[in-house]
Amino acid sequence: MDRARVFVSRRIFQKALNMLDTGVEVDLWEDELPPSRDVLLKRVEGIDGLICLLTDKIDAELMDAAGPSLRVISQIAVGFDNIDVMEATKRGIPVGNTPDVLTQTTADATWAILMAAARRIVESSIAVRDGKWKTWHPLHYLGRDVYGSTLGIIGMGRIGLEVARRAAGFDMDVLYTDVVRRQDIEQEYKMRYVDMDTLLKESDFVSIHTVLSKSTHHLIDKEALSKMKKSAILVNAARGAIVDHQALYDALKTGVISAAGLDVTEPEPIPYNDPLLTLDNCVIVPHIASASVKTRAEMSRITVQNLINGLKGEKLLACVNPEVYDE
Ligand code: GLV
Repeated sequence: MDRARVFVSRRIFQKALNMLDTGVEVDLWEDELPPSRDVLLKRVEGIDGLICLLTDKIDAELMDAAGPSLRVISQIAVGFDNIDVMEATKRGIPVGNTPDVLTQTTADATWAILMAAARRIVESSIAVRDGKWKTWHPLHYLGRDVYGSTLGIIGMGRIGLEVARRAAGFDMDVLYTDVVRRQDIEQEYKMRYVDMDTLLKESDFVSIHTVLSKSTHHLIDKEALSKMKKSAILVNAARGAIVDHQALYDALKTGVISAAGLDVTEPEPIPYNDPLLTLDNCVIVPHIASASVKTRAEMSRITVQNLINGLKGEKLLACVNPEVYDE
């Protein structure tokens, strides 16, 4: 039998790639930066399996370029808004992702970003490096208390839930909103289901953990921001396009809200000259919420296992379109 051909669009943990046996021919994109569209379309020609990242656009054109041999798409991420899943399903191609293993790490990072924004950690740390720490001053670098405040979570999925769990340690009131109410666990997590307006109005911290879709694109726009408290802090560790960045810039600049912490931006990377980068009250990190050694190793392992299963025609460990197995 011919060897299965696989394109891997970026380096992942080598230990995971070593799981592939000699029956698989790996074409690994070694550059740090993603392949250009043209190169990607060329490199996928005739492949049986694809390992991709959220920075790769996986659409009908790419699946056409790969051709009918393509039988598994395995993404190293939990989110998959870069993939046209409907198109993959139409072609009977299972799409794998890496849920669960990154939940705790991403929830930890959300808290790191929230606290950094609340207590002006980045801004004050930069000031120290710049030689601007002249004295202890009663009025310098005043932030917002986390302890005892109200946390509003948009999107009560796996990550939202773990963010909520951590809030108990800060004795916070937790509000949440989602399309589905999680009444079964509200008591355990001491959280209250509210509508979006109430969440925006009552929360001291608003943290976004929903998927990016047509209905969540720019969900946090000028109007939503205007409903938040002046003292409130917005945290986004989901997808950049859920927030209208122009509206966020205006809100941060004019004091409509107090600060923001972003793990994700629109676009990514955020251009070096983006006005948001001029604001002291906006903490931005480069989409690193799942970036711990252990979690990225696990994500690599699951990604490769999904690929192996797909190549063998077996069910993926985590599949976003299980309906491909229906008939
Ligand atoms: C990262 O953003 C992911 O979706 O895993």
